[in-house]
Amino acid sequence: MEKLRVGIIGAGRISDLHALEYLANPRAEIVAVADMVAENAQTRGRAWGVPAHAIFTNYHDLLALPEVDLVEILLPHHLHYQAVLDAAQAGKHVSVQKPMALSVEQADAMIAATQRAGVMFKVFENFIFYPPVQRAKALVDAGEIGEPLSIRIKSNAATSPNAWQVPLAAQIWRFDPAQNGGGPLVFDDGHHKFALAWHFMGQAEAVHAWIGATEVFPGAILDSPSIISWKFANGGVGALEVVYSPELVLDTQHYAQDDRIEITGAKGVIWVTRGHGKMLDAPPVVLYRDRQTRTFSDMPVGWEHSFINSTRHMIDAYFAGAAPSLTGEQGREVLRFALAAQESARLGQAVTLAKG
Ligand SMILES: NC(=O)c1ccc[n+]([C@@H]2O[C@H](COP(=O)([O-])OP(=O)(O)OC[C@H]3O[C@@H](n4cnc5c(N)ncnc54)[C@H](O)[C@@H]3O)[C@@H](O)[C@H]2O)c1
Repeated sequence: MEKLRVGIIGAGRISDLHALEYLANPRAEIVAVADMVAENAQTRGRAWGVPAHAIFTNYHDLLALPEVDLVEILLPHHLHYQAVLDAAQAGKHVSVQKPMALSVEQADAMIAATQRAGVMFKVFENFIFYPPVQRAKALVDAGEIGEPLSIRIKSNAATSPNAWQVPLAAQIWRFDPAQNGGGPLVFDDGHHKFALAWHFMGQAEAVHAWIGATEVFPGAILDSPSIISWKFANGGVGALEVVYSPELVLDTQHYAQDDRIEITGAKGVIWVTRGHGKMLDAPPVVLYRDRQTRTFSDMPVGWEHSFINSTRHMIDAYFAGAAPSLTGEQGREVLRFALAAQESARLGQAVTLAKG
């Protein structure tokens, strides 16, 4: 059987969830790993069955391996741009974690480089592959709520005794806008929320953001509490509210955070009641229409399934010669949305997302 042979660049916190489907899927195999921290490369490389000669601290060595078909780039954001250009230059197919870059100019150059090289280019966005979100989208597409008119997303950042361990190194770069591209909650995690809005209702036309600031340890500013609102081209509207509550205790196996989505259509409303955590003791998807409430619980709700599904989708797209979701162009749209929120908060006024 032909296999997609994958090299992972950046074996940090999130690489554990990327590896799951590559290890389980008979049509894929992790054949190489690179991380500048040798211990990360060694520990995860060995756990994934990577041969010792294909475990590196310099990703250029990984790119030189002929047996690598595709690279999964899981680096801090400011490194995505150069790593994608280098991978394309080496003729590798590319999947890069969100946000694809720090600017639209970088995104354009990345799209052009992968097109010139004739390689697949995926921007890895997993929230749209979370099973409850997939179910909500199927219900919207089936016309259950009529034309969607609004989307509201609420994100609770909190604390949890059972959250997974996030190494200090993985936190530090997120508090530096030069490496992150914006704030940890509204830009980094916000990418997922802007992707959800885009996924359900298309690109925003204008964005207005108020981004707060909470010092969580000396010099580290968390961009909370924040509220971002926007208008879609069809006249619909959306909003994202992000609040960090230091004494709010959540159950989760991943980050200490939980999200909820509410989509209102012309004749009904859909709620996705959970994300990483489980705050509400409620079915993951609830639909109201015609004076009746229906609930949907027949789906996996573990957060890891969003990664598994996104990766499986890409493997399928690779073998079918189809475009992966997100494409570079779609990732660029979500990036523009996220950057517009940063810009609006900076200017203190709404920002229009002109075409282009
Ligand atoms: N989709 C999601 O829900 C989600 C969640 C977490 C992180 N992410 C994304 O995944 C990416 C990585 O995040 P993370 O949390 O794993 O960060 P991390 O800091 O844990 O991992 C980054 C790894 O890159 C390595 N690295 C840094 N510079 C390098 C270089 N020049 N060459 C080789 N290795 C280098 C570091 O040693 C580290 O192991 C980011 O784009 C982030 O936004 C997405």
